[in-house]
Amino acid sequence: MLTKEEEAMLNGEMGEGVQKAMEIIVALGKIYNAKELIKVESAHISGVSYKNLGDEGLEFLEEFASMGVKTIVEATLNPAGMDMESWEELGFSREFAEKQTRIVKAYERMGVKATCTCTPYLIGNKPKFGQHIAWSESSAIIYANSILGARTNRESGISALASAITGRTAKYGLHLDENRLADYIVKVKCDVKGVSDFGALGYLIGKIVGDKVPYITGIKIADLDELKALGASMAASGAVGLFHMENITPETKIKKMIKDHAEEIEIENLKEAYETLNYDIREIDVVSIGCPHASIEEIRKVAYMIKGRKVKSQLWITTSRRIYDEAKRQGLLEIINEAGGKVIRDTCIVVAPIEELGFKTLATNSAKMATLSPSHSKVKVRFGSLEDCIKAALSGVWNDN
Ligand code: F3S
Repeated sequence: MLTKEEEAMLNGEMGEGVQKAMEIIVALGKIYNAKELIKVESAHISGVSYKNLGDEGLEFLEEFASMGVKTIVEATLNPAGMDMESWEELGFSREFAEKQTRIVKAYERMGVKATCTCTPYLIGNKPKFGQHIAWSESSAIIYANSILGARTNRESGISALASAITGRTAKYGLHLDENRLADYIVKVKCDVKGVSDFGALGYLIGKIVGDKVPYITGIKIADLDELKALGASMAASGAVGLFHMENITPETKIKKMIKDHAEEIEIENLKEAYETLNYDIREIDVVSIGCPHASIEEIRKVAYMIKGRKVKSQLWITTSRRIYDEAKRQGLLEIINEAGGKVIRDTCIVVAPIEELGFKTLATNSAKMATLSPSHSKVKVRFGSLEDCIKAALSGVWNDN
């Protein structure tokens, strides 16, 4: 059932662009048997890199923008295919840069903030507990649902954009209480320490639970960077949109978030994840830290580790512009640049056309990046702790010991 205002949007009374956006929302509602639409507080929109969108996507966005549509709720943008300022010095082609710039401008004309980050929650688009939102970008969705307790389905870029324009989404899936209960209880029986271990755990859980909701027990303490890594890899190896962690994620502190007949599984160790995600390579062309985009704490850790030293392979720390500016203000950028590393805004190794830059081998502490970059960026990968990655950056080779 639609309200009068929603009917007006659908009938084209608010313009052709709004009508098209509302048609998308209504079609989704029909597919998933939603009874009504709900208002959303914010949208986060993926589908930004020209590498993924191509000319067709670019033309669609420019055409949509030319209809004069405007977002009516806060809307932020996922990473682009390049650092929007330093693309030339990083070696991206002018042709790619021109098309990428047109894509970002088309979004800006529609009122979307060109944040170009997969961590909007670190730079101000941080929904509150219980708020309904329409986000795309799997790592941001799972963070918003699980760690912030907001409510979003796994939207596509286009459906998130449609929500930004109409301020609505269809009420189904993770917007409903009953679908937020866990289907699996995952008992973790091993030590899990640092971003790479949490990513490895997420990788294993995602493989097992697919698109279901896991309830994780056995973890006593986890910081936000670790939870960010856990969710991102779970959403990449599986299609998880929400997880609970006993006494850590907010909904578990309010009520029992487990279905009556939830299946129990145990994770005894993380070996399988490390074995599966590691290629047998030694020379490392580029080390990538910051998937999902690095927080200021992650950048600080790297800066302290390489202070006064020199990297032999390329070291890319990918982050948002806002965190980049903060790193600059704190003097961290200078330390990293002096050591030969680079803090890169707006993009990451997976969505940038790094094939153009000639990278063949990569080391990362992100299980999500280790999962996706072999297929998306045609690189062979070493996956390990931040310490292992920094050692590889300083020596140019991966050392197993
Ligand atoms: Fe973000 Fe790129 Fe990783 S978009 S989650 S840094 S693959």
